[in-house]
Amino acid sequence: MTASREDIARAVECLRAGGVVAFPTETVYGLGADALNPQAVSRIYAIKRRPPNHPLIVHLPAASYLEQWARDIPRAAHQLAEKFWPGPLTLILPRARTVPDNVTGGQDSVGLRVPGHPVALALLQQFGGAVAAPSANRFGHVSPTTAQHVRDELGDEVDMILDGGACQVGLESTIVSLLDARPLILRPGAISQMQLSEALSIPVALGGADEKRLRAPGLLARHYAPATPLRIVARENLEQQIRALLAQNKRVAVIAYTQRAEPAQAHYYFLSPDPVSYAHDLYATLRAADAAQHDVLLLEAVPEDEVWLAVRDRLTRAAQAHQ
Ligand code: TXA
Ligand code: MG
Repeated sequence: MTASREDIARAVECLRAGGVVAFPTETVYGLGADALNPQAVSRIYAIKRRPPNHPLIVHLPAASYLEQWARDIPRAAHQLAEKFWPGPLTLILPRARTVPDNVTGGQDSVGLRVPGHPVALALLQQFGGAVAAPSANRFGHVSPTTAQHVRDELGDEVDMILDGGACQVGLESTIVSLLDARPLILRPGAISQMQLSEALSIPVALGGADEKRLRAPGLLARHYAPATPLRIVARENLEQQIRALLAQNKRVAVIAYTQRAEPAQAHYYFLSPDPVSYAHDLYATLRAADAAQHDVLLLEAVPEDEVWLAVRDRLTRAAQAHQ
């Protein structure tokens, strides 16, 4: 059930009072607090069990707030904001001096985004300020894509959960660093490398894992992980691996996009062969698989094309958590 106007008004009061509100965005659910209230922000870290030196994303009501939160803003930032906000894109920029230290994990940069979900936008606009919000899950775990996921995982620890239905995208935002002359993608997402390059008329490089200068939990190998051990297996090896595990009396679950439920003793979760729908359902499927308590999850490797990049990135990290 989608949040009512009264719910949103209550959430605004809660943010003003230093509370922590979980809210829907088009990517995943966020765990928000007044970005200018360090005590409120520190509660986010406590609820997530997140190390204090990891920066949060600051959600803005509109691109016109950029100047209040960043300094030395390059033209590229305005171009990308104009083209993709509200939407699933986070820009890393030099931070304005007023940005509290615990929002940025003490770094001199800040991550900013205007989310493209009507409930998030209404919340931000009525609050009239910035909301610091990481994904509303425990540190390292799979991000929530429904209000029920947040309830299941964080329950009473948050002051309020706004329901906005299932998140449209289902994977976290694309993160682009504009700290250097050459823009760099730190985390792939729904806004693709090609879309970014086209918008800026220059090639945008894929960075991330090698970029040691930046502290970004989304860049850690062990992240976005279900509790059940997960292995990525090429389609041609899948059946043989399922049989080998079944022979060891393991309870095996398979996440596949090719519709082939054999051998029948394994449990199958089928996702769409379309990368956009696959992304939309992936985290909910990982959570469902965790709840069903299989011994091992075998995941059919997804294609190598660019359209699968964001999905592949999250899956690789989810699998690495168990190595
Ligand atoms: O889609 C999203 O981005 C969601 C929704 C709620 O907006 N948020 C999200 O937040 O995924 P979180 O905290 O789970 O991931 C934020 C990512 C982390 O990888 C963090 O390190 C990076 O943003 N980040 C934030 N500020 C940064 C900065 N100054 N420099 C480098 N990375 C930064
Ligand atoms: Mg997260």
